[in-house]
Formats: sequence, C-alpha cells, structure tokens
Amino acid sequence: MAIDPADTRKQWLLSRDECRCCCSSTRPKILLSIAALALLVTAAVVIGASVGATRASARNHRHKRSSNAATFDENYNISWSGDHVRLLNGGLLADILLDKQSGAEFGSKRSYLFGHLKMQMKLVANDSAGTVTAFYMASHTENRDEFDFEFLGNRSGQPYALQTNIYVNGTGGREQRILLWFDPSLDYHTYSVLWNQYQVIFFVDDTPVRVFRNNSHLGVPYAFSQPMRIFGSMWNGEQWATVGGLEKTNWNYAPFIASFQDFAIDGCDPSSSPGDPGFCFSSGNRNHWWDEEKYRVLDVGQLDNLGSIVRNYTIYDYCTDTKRYSPVPPECGANP
Ligand SMILES: *[C@@H]1O[C@H](CO)[C@@H](O)[C@H](O)[C@H]1NC(C)=O
Ligand SMILES: *[C@@H]1O[C@H](CO)[C@@H](O)[C@H](O)[C@H]1NC(C)=O
Ligand SMILES: *[C@@H]1O[C@H](CO)[C@@H](O)[C@H](O)[C@H]1NC(C)=O
Ligand SMILES: *[C@@H]1O[C@H](CO)[C@@H](O)[C@H](O)[C@H]1NC(C)=O
Ligand SMILES: *[C@@H]1O[C@H](CO)[C@@H](O)[C@H](O)[C@H]1NC(C)=O
Ligand SMILES: *[C@@H]1O[C@H](CO)[C@@H](O)[C@H](O)[C@H]1NC(C)=O
Repeated sequence: MAIDPADTRKQWLLSRDECRCCCSSTRPKILLSIAALALLVTAAVVIGASVGATRASARNHRHKRSSNAATFDENYNISWSGDHVRLLNGGLLADILLDKQSGAEFGSKRSYLFGHLKMQMKLVANDSAGTVTAFYMASHTENRDEFDFEFLGNRSGQPYALQTNIYVNGTGGREQRILLWFDPSLDYHTYSVLWNQYQVIFFVDDTPVRVFRNNSHLGVPYAFSQPMRIFGSMWNGEQWATVGGLEKTNWNYAPFIASFQDFAIDGCDPSSSPGDPGFCFSSGNRNHWWDEEKYRVLDVGQLDNLGSIVRNYTIYDYCTDTKRYSPVPPECGANP
C-alpha cells in the first residue's frame, strides 16, 4: 500500500525533529544535559585516554564476534529512563521496555569515526503497532551527522517497516522505507552500518539495503569529521509510525519489549589517539580494515541484492518524492 505523500511529509516532521524519543517530557532535559557535559567528557576522555578496547584492528573481524562478546557496561550506558532498561545474562543482553509512562534509550560511552557499527536486535512481537525501535549513530552536534535505522511496528501479522535516514552536517530529510521480508521479532538479526571514507552501507544481516556514497564531487556533503555515539532506543511513535499514524499503540499489550545484544564495537575512536587528527583515516601505512579495496564499492553480488531489495520492498523513497524535493537531491541520480 502506498503512503499518501501528504501524510508522509507530516510524518517526517514529526518523526525526526520533534519526536525522537519524543513527545515525552523527560527527553529534552536529558539531551541538554548530555550536550552540557560533552566538553567535560571529551576532556576527561582525552586525559584519561587508554587505548580503546574497541579500536579496530582485526581483518578477520567477522570470525572474532563470538570470542569478542562484550557486556553492555563495557561499551554502553543508559541515556534515558534507566528503569525501562533491563540487563540480563550478566549484561550480554539488554531489554528496552516501552509502556505508557516511557520508552528508553542507551548509548555508547565512546564516539566513533568510521567502522563497522552493529547491533543484534529482536523486535517487539505480535501487536507492535505504534512502537518505534531504533538503532542509530549520531554526533549530537549543532550540524549533526546521523545514520538511522528505525523499525516501525505494525498490527499482528502485518509487516514491520524499516525506515533509514542520513543526516550530514545538519541536513537530513533522506528517508527511505522498506518492508522487512522476514519477521524481525522471531529471532535476533544483525543491523549494521559500514562507514568508511568511500561509502556508508546499511546492512540487514549480510544484505545491503541502502548505500550513501561519498559524492563530494557532486557537491553532496559526506560525513567524515564528526565522531558519533551509537544508540539503541524505543519510544511511542503512534502519531506517525504505523500506516501514517492511523494505527495506534494498543497499550493492553504493554510493556512492549525489544531485545539487544552484541555490545562489542568495531570502530575508530579518535580520542584514543589525541593529537593525531588523521588517526581514523587510512593513509600511508595506517590501514583500517573497513577502508580496504573490497569495502570501497559494492561488489556485483551486493549490487544485485540491493537492487532486488529496493525493487521488491520499497514503500517510500525521498528520491522519488518530487512533491517534496524538486529537483531531487543530487545524490539521488548517482550510482550506488
Ligand atoms: C554515558 O556516556 C556518555 C558518553 O561518554 C556520557 O556523556 C554520559 O555522561 C554517560 N552517562 C552516564 C549516566 O554515565
Ligand atoms: C505472540 O502471540 C503468540 C500467539 O498468540 C503467543 O503464543 C506469544 O506468546 C505472543 N508473544 C508475545 C511476546 O507476546
Ligand atoms: C556545514 O554547514 C555549515 C552551515 O550550517 C557550513 O558553514 C559548512 O561549510 C558546512 N560544512 C561542510 C563540510 O559542508
Ligand atoms: C570523498 O571523496 C573525495 C573525492 O571525491 C575525497 O577528496 C575525500 O577525501 C573523500 N572523503 C573522505 C572522507 O575520504
Ligand atoms: C503495516 O501494514 C500495512 C498493511 O499491510 C502496510 O500498509 C504498512 O506499510 C505496514 N507498516 C507500517 C509501518 O505501517
Ligand atoms: C524480488 O522479486 C523477484 C520476483 O519479482 C524474486 O525473484 C526475488 O527473489 C525477490 N527478491 C527478494 C530479495 O525477495
């Protein structure tokens, strides 16, 4: 079913800029205090800089996942509504609860510039309409850079939608939506972003679902200077999330629960090498695995997969929304 464009425009306004965790009273205060603490924390991190346990090094990162199990506390802390986060299994697992009072959010303790940033998630089962569960990275600066996965719940038996968005230097409005081709509440799936000097790839498990290339040559800004924290969250988005806001949250099923695991982080933390501004950039004999040749463009198989995902499952794409953008942004005409 197509979304009415008039509705979608309203949704975008709500979804991102007013309603992140939103439509809730506690959230803005917390954001402010995070911002206020940012300088302090940066200073503390620089002074206390021990080399990050999460610094990227491994070429064979995929094979290290299981031996690399990190607990929540090693890399993350709670940034909103701690009484709605439940750590289980010695911290290897985190549940976020959403009820009428609140949702919740956690974020990485460190910030990262480039890497393969991932999370395993099992989403709210059954009637999840109105709920929004997110995995995202954000710089939380005035000219923010941000990469978003937002999972929009649905009535029992109806498909979840995955909305992705990209902010660069303060400008977002790059929403794309696909229906998920599996039930994301049955099992853990890995959602990740590979972010290097050449491209940002959004993956669902091993399948690329979106690519945002470094199109500097077309005048499209590219995210390369602002480290980002990594976040997991869930909140009530019933005003816009499901069928354009027509389907509301059914609180009889609360608390809604989404589960997160795999808290190891494979990214570059620039503050672990203060005084070396090029630390996160590969050049000369400094190589980060994600900048290797094979990660600079999608290979033929990946392009094929991306193509069929986009063709089969897209329900909204800012690049084809000519009522909203005319002409469409320059990155829309570029090759993936
Ligand atoms: C969590 O980590 C962030 C980033 O390091 C920091 O700004 C914040 O103060 C920490 N919050 C708590 C509750 O420790
Ligand atoms: C979802 O619904 C099924 C069938 O009604 C039920 O067995 C299951 O316990 C429900 N799961 C949750 C998480 O509520
Ligand atoms: C980011 O945006 C600001 C204005 O908001 C502009 O002055 C600056 O040049 C931009 N930076 C880049 C790298 O595009
Ligand atoms: C993006 O590509 C341009 C060349 O098109 C290059 O000069 C720039 O360094 C690239 N950005 C990053 C972050 O590597
Ligand atoms: C929910 O299900 C309806 C009906 O199948 C569909 O149109 C819609 O795109 C689905 N997802 C969301 C988030 O609304
Ligand atoms: C997309 O649809 C085509 C047929 O229309 C099918 O052959 C293909 O397997 C589908 N791809 C995915 C990823 O579901």
